[in-house]
Amino acid sequence: INIPKGQFIGSNIRYFEEIDSTNSYAKKIANEGCAHGTVVISEVQTMGRGRVGRQWQSDTAEGIWFSIVVRPDLEPENIQVITLAASVAVVEAIKETCGIICGIKWPNDIILNGRKLGGILTELSAEPGHVNYVVVGIGLNANQDLEHFDYEIRQKAISLKMYAGKSISRANLLGSILTRFEKIYKSILLGENRDIIDKWTAYSVTIGKEVKVAYKDMEYFGKALSVASDGRLIVECKDGVTREISAGEIQVRGL
Ligand code: BTN
Repeated sequence: INIPKGQFIGSNIRYFEEIDSTNSYAKKIANEGCAHGTVVISEVQTMGRGRVGRQWQSDTAEGIWFSIVVRPDLEPENIQVITLAASVAVVEAIKETCGIICGIKWPNDIILNGRKLGGILTELSAEPGHVNYVVVGIGLNANQDLEHFDYEIRQKAISLKMYAGKSISRANLLGSILTRFEKIYKSILLGENRDIIDKWTAYSVTIGKEVKVAYKDMEYFGKALSVASDGRLIVECKDGVTREISAGEIQVRGL
């Protein structure tokens, strides 16, 4: 597979016609010690996984399904910014290679026309104070037609082809994501989180909106104010308390 590579991101690529999940495979080879920056790509996934235990429909070769293994020298609680970095890289790469402007719904949904174009599943292996590896799994609906999607998600999902009316180059888009992600990743390790948070905020469809946050078995309603430099979402809740949300599920009303 011929795509532009970075210095380390994508210097080692494992390519499959079919696999259960690129994230599951990436975790397996990361445990076995694969190189920092290894990328796992598959044309088709038979058991693609989404966040919070959901399924991720990726049974057609029209999408872009891949995972990146990184070994950042960060505290485990500070890795959320890597997910934000990946979503910024994706939005900018889509703009560059397809001329299409997408938004980001906190923390990791790629939104086009109010529908879900893609998502990011970040999985962490860490001990207290030390990150072993982070797997950043990215799924993008690229060249699917409406009928490629299961009936239940047709109202919610969209592909770049459905929006643009023509197929896009998956290789160009993937290459652009990898080179951009590497650049942003380097700046994060230098502690330059502000720049990435500002960019993320500029693309966000969450900030300034009324949100419903399901968090530790509780539901809060409030307004999303901003994102902290560690990637937490700051929500001014209706009960008067401002909370920093790092995990759990968030629903943006009105999307
Ligand atoms: C979400 O929005 O819930 C995240 C979806 C992440 C899907 C990608 S596709 C490549 C990688 N492998 C997986 O099994 N999941 C991620």
